Amino acid sequence: MDVLEAIHGRRAVRDYADKIPSESVIRSLIGEAVWAPSGVNLQPWSFFVVDDRATLAACSTEAKALMLGQADVHPELAHMREMLTSPQFNIFYNAPVLVVICSTTPDEMALKDCCLAAQTLMLAAHAQGVGSCWIGFSEAWLNTPAGKAKLGIPAEFRPVAPIIIGYPKGSTPANERRAPDIRHVVPGAS
Ligand SMILES: Cc1cc2nc3c(=O)[nH]c(=O)nc-3n(C[C@H](O)[C@H](O)[C@H](O)COP(=O)(O)O)c2cc1C
Repeated sequence: MDVLEAIHGRRAVRDYADKIPSESVIRSLIGEAVWAPSGVNLQPWSFFVVDDRATLAACSTEAKALMLGQADVHPELAHMREMLTSPQFNIFYNAPVLVVICSTTPDEMALKDCCLAAQTLMLAAHAQGVGSCWIGFSEAWLNTPAGKAKLGIPAEFRPVAPIIIGYPKGSTPANERRAPDIRHVVPGAS
């Protein structure tokens, strides 16, 4: 698949078929992700793979409980209360696999590097017929000692990009984009 086709065709997929991506598919996607650029080519990332739906469901329950607590303190999260209290709502949408891209160094640049690896992984997934979605809902919980312990993530690593993957059930319509705000800088102005 051509790169522009991949950029335009990728969707945040939230409905997955039962078919599970094989270990070799998962490894190949991660193998593509590491071709993302990184500052000084440090490649400060590590990939944690959860490929068990029951474990993901348990993680979802814990992440929802944490967010529900935050909704009590942060009024802007109150609108999510109904969703977070619904036992049916799984923040990972019952996807078969979660790949958590963690930064292995504490600096700001490593966060950017991990985000680039995440986008590269999502585009590569789409090119192979695999759907994906970044699950920001899980980030706060993954960064707790309990979340890190559950996935075996070392305390000094920082979970940055939790990406679910799996085979899409059906198709996902495109979300429209706003026209980009482009401003030409006039030489010598001001
Ligand atoms: C940083 C980030 C966090 C996101 N978190 C969630 C999430 O927790 N749950 C979810 O369903 N989608 C999440 N998404 C997916 C976005 O909602 C989605 O990318 C956006 O609506 C645009 O749709 P598209 O990816 O299909 O173009 C997240 C995306 C990004 C980049």
